[in-house]
Amino acid sequence: MPPPLLVPSILAGNHANLAESAALVARIGLPWIHVDIMDGHFVPNLTFGPGTVAALRQASTLFFDVHLMLDEPRRYVEPFARAGASLISIHVEPPGDTAGALAQIGRLGCKRGIVLNPGTPASAVEPFLASVDLVLVMTVQPGFGGQSFRRDMLPKIAQIATWRRERGLDFRLEVDGGIDLATGAECRAAGVDTFVAGTSFFRAPDPAAFAAAFARL
Ligand code: DX5
Ligand code: ZN
Repeated sequence: MPPPLLVPSILAGNHANLAESAALVARIGLPWIHVDIMDGHFVPNLTFGPGTVAALRQASTLFFDVHLMLDEPRRYVEPFARAGASLISIHVEPPGDTAGALAQIGRLGCKRGIVLNPGTPASAVEPFLASVDLVLVMTVQPGFGGQSFRRDMLPKIAQIATWRRERGLDFRLEVDGGIDLATGAECRAAGVDTFVAGTSFFRAPDPAAFAAAFARL
């Protein structure tokens, strides 16, 4: 299993100075940043558009882990790829051609991710496991940062980790929502290697010390 990768979520960063929040992540030596895109429909909140991502790309060379929480992800794959996304994750729940959208993400030169909400069974992503670079298991109902970790997602995480091992696949297994050092350790034991953290990272008294502790999980 790859070493634990901590991925700060810029949703908890300084919205008046996103570039500085990204610079903090880079200064600490973390290679990825998580960027949440919300449409006010698939989730009850609004965040950033392609223009904001493009501006952030001008200010940062980090790997952009872009999480699309959209009713119609396929309509926005190309604008976010052109804006500078490094990886684009789409949810499996919205109707439409998920396989086609994943293939388009790959053709645009980005890594491909598939996401499932707490209410969605692991079987929903099984058809896509061989054609993605990352599987993201939501550990909160998406839409807001600062929510509590859902421990009842651990069996689903373990199931996907088992499929990965049994089938010799090498996608990253990511969690998102309510992740801190304690819940991160539980996820690590279930097979997770990639950890999105918003509140726990950007509100930490010492983010560098937090990141160092995470690396020891
Ligand atoms: C929620 C987002 C998460 C969120 C995590 O819908 O997808 O990425 O920013 O924030 P915390 O770590 O505060 O739960
Ligand atoms: Zn997210």
